[in-house]
Amino acid sequence: MRRVVCPGSFDPVTNGHLDVIGRASTLYDQVVVAVLVNVNKTGLFTVEERMELLADVTKVYGNIVVTSFHGLLVDFCREHDIPAIIKGLRAVSDFDYELQMAQMNHSLSGVETLFVATNPLYSFLSSSLVKEVATYGGDVSGLVPEVVFDRIRDKLGHR
Ligand code: PNS
Repeated sequence: MRRVVCPGSFDPVTNGHLDVIGRASTLYDQVVVAVLVNVNKTGLFTVEERMELLADVTKVYGNIVVTSFHGLLVDFCREHDIPAIIKGLRAVSDFDYELQMAQMNHSLSGVETLFVATNPLYSFLSSSLVKEVATYGGDVSGLVPEVVFDRIRDKLGHR
């Protein structure tokens, strides 16, 4: 079975993430969406909430597994026998750091990184900006799945 991992913080999942995951799902038999557990960073959503939202919005694809990981991504890949990582590239500004990580991960373990060019509809989109805009009452309804929009509003008390 051909498998790929799509790693990230997903705090919360956006339409940009979904675009990448959906496209990965057509290229691979199984896409493992892996949420980074970062003990030094408190998010808007807990890791469990992020995973629950991800499982909900990706169930339509039929070949997505949602899990979490901590430590090095290459160790996760080795433990789960996953040979490749898939990431979205939104703009040239993403490229420097993503290239550096891809090269580091390859040198550490031989794992490959594949990049998909983000749909231009979402090239300005990030979880951080969604949270910032929503915090100040901006409309993020077209930027995240409906269930995520509702949960952001619940969290921020804008109902
Ligand atoms: O959604 P994000 O926060 O941009 O995702 C970044 C992520 C989780 C993909 C990246 O930080 C990562 O792979 N972290 C795991 C730790 C690790 O392997 N670090 C070395 C990278 S070369």
